[in-house]
Amino acid sequence: MTVNTQPGSQAQSQNSQPLPADEQASTWLFGYGSLIWKPELPFIRAHPARVDGYVRRFWQGSEDHRGTPESPGRVVTLVPDYQGQCFGVAYLVSNIEIEQTFAQLDHREKNGYTRLTLDLNLGSDAVLTDEKVVAGITYIADEYNEAYLGQAPIAQIAKEIFHSVGPSGTNTEYLLELAQALRDRVIDDPHVFALETEIRTLLNQS
Ligand code: SIN
Repeated sequence: MTVNTQPGSQAQSQNSQPLPADEQASTWLFGYGSLIWKPELPFIRAHPARVDGYVRRFWQGSEDHRGTPESPGRVVTLVPDYQGQCFGVAYLVSNIEIEQTFAQLDHREKNGYTRLTLDLNLGSDAVLTDEKVVAGITYIADEYNEAYLGQAPIAQIAKEIFHSVGPSGTNTEYLLELAQALRDRVIDDPHVFALETEIRTLLNQS
């Protein structure tokens, strides 16, 4: 895995305000997929977060969690989009626990993801304005990894998800859990909700 981040002082505010005490020796991690509904992290607190310049897409293959090498499932990654935004959850992790957390996440996300440092908007209103911007680390699977599947029509992606299962469970469960977690947090994501609609149709037909 290529690692382009260093643990440590990631939780520095890029604004001039002093950092709250619990952010002074901590690192922000950004989750936008299973890390929203199944974080399994030793976090101090969680905060809604927005990243700009990316959108969430079911374009990454999953050969180890929600599919197999012979029949990969599909999971989300962040795809660069100049005008795009992705809403998710930022987790504040103590630097005492960050190395172990990275080791666990590196293993969990080993099928094509690498760490990337991004600006996280943690504004206090619904759209998370940039009143508070911090550096945060996320796991992203780019188009050059071997498991990458890329773009396809929504109906085709839904069928692939519907028929995939791996050691962590069905791919359908991953999609429905993510859709519900976004709905619970009042996060709109037309890509995810279009897939959810297709999957529910397939479930009703089966
Ligand atoms: C994430 O949740 O932030 C990464 C992708 C995933 O594990 O689903």
